[in-house]
Amino acid sequence: MSTDKQPDGAQTVSVHTSRAHNATSAVSPPIWQTTTFSAETAEDFAERAIAMRPAEFYTRYGNPTHRAVEATLAALERAETAIITGSGMGAIFAAVAALVERGDHIVVQRNHYAGSTTLFQEVLPRWGIQATAVDQTDADAFAAAITPQTKLVYVETPTNPLMQITDLRAAAELARAHNLISICDNTFATPINQRPIELGLDLVVHSATKYLGGHHDVTAGAIIGSQALIDRIWKFAIVSGATLSPFDGWLLLRGLRTLGLRVERHNLNGAALARFLSGHPKVERVYYPGLPEHPQHELARSQMQGFTGMLSIEMRGGYSAAEALIRNLRLATRAASLGGFETLIVHPAAMWGLQLSPEQRLRTGVSDSLVRISAGIEDEADLLADFAAALEGQKER
Ligand SMILES: Cc1ncc(COP(=O)(O)O)c(C=O)c1O
Repeated sequence: MSTDKQPDGAQTVSVHTSRAHNATSAVSPPIWQTTTFSAETAEDFAERAIAMRPAEFYTRYGNPTHRAVEATLAALERAETAIITGSGMGAIFAAVAALVERGDHIVVQRNHYAGSTTLFQEVLPRWGIQATAVDQTDADAFAAAITPQTKLVYVETPTNPLMQITDLRAAAELARAHNLISICDNTFATPINQRPIELGLDLVVHSATKYLGGHHDVTAGAIIGSQALIDRIWKFAIVSGATLSPFDGWLLLRGLRTLGLRVERHNLNGAALARFLSGHPKVERVYYPGLPEHPQHELARSQMQGFTGMLSIEMRGGYSAAEALIRNLRLATRAASLGGFETLIVHPAAMWGLQLSPEQRLRTGVSDSLVRISAGIEDEADLLADFAAALEGQKER
């Protein structure tokens, strides 16, 4: 690793950061598969019991495997520190709930991952915490929603599933001017494509289930930011119980080792599919911020280094056309989740039937003809051939 001021590149960070937190000579660090740690003396035990974020006391409080993952994530997002949780929603819930109390107000977006929308619009109001949802493409709307009770600005960009972009610099500036804490869900972008903390946001949250893990085999979350904020959130996270198992922490670390390489390929495949589909007569519209015709392309370029493997399309022909495409694909698998090695495809209108009412779906732009694609790392030519054949109505052989 370099010792000068220039930070190492993301792929170097992914490969090497965990070595410093290994505590053994094993090149691949062990999995600390234990719920608890012994103390030699009463003093030692008492010290660990009251320590902030001890790595060796009780796994719900911390674990050496998790320390290695947390160090890697903090380095990738260029932040002081991080904590990992049992899911992305566990991270979002802990980060938000730790920082607000009854009577507080949060400015959020109209479009978020559906679980976050439910948290802000249904769960938190039951505890006396209100949220105002604004059009994230209108930077002024965030300012207009601030009240004397506002404590947080919570953003997600690009959004799931419409790939809308939030102006991160503007959100950070606004939060700073009003003494608010700002949080960004960076799941879709990953720190390879976008680093909100460098743009002035206070905290980043992730569903590490997605690109960070990258292999569709671990459900996890992460909260990344300053030592002071993460310490505060940790106190809540340990009682919210969203603990990640050491084995899953290790799987996440293993996934992170190749994050930069994988995301490069996801970006290429996402862009190739977006270009191909935007020229296809059976496709009404493509939502991909890397396309020059995306209404926020310039903003995306100003804050992202790549445009991800995520895209959504509107099919001509409504629900049945969307279903026919999904049914006809050979390489893209119909499954919830995203960001892993293999291409996944979903019909959001069907997936979020439980979480979003028909009115909420319409308000957030989730139409019957919308299809969300998570481009995997397969060979580009094979993916394009598969989509071409599926759109013609037959499986590619
Ligand atoms: C943008 C975004 N944030 C958060 C989540 C929730 O993550 P998890 O399923 O790991 O709880 C998801 C899940 O799809 C997501 O897409």
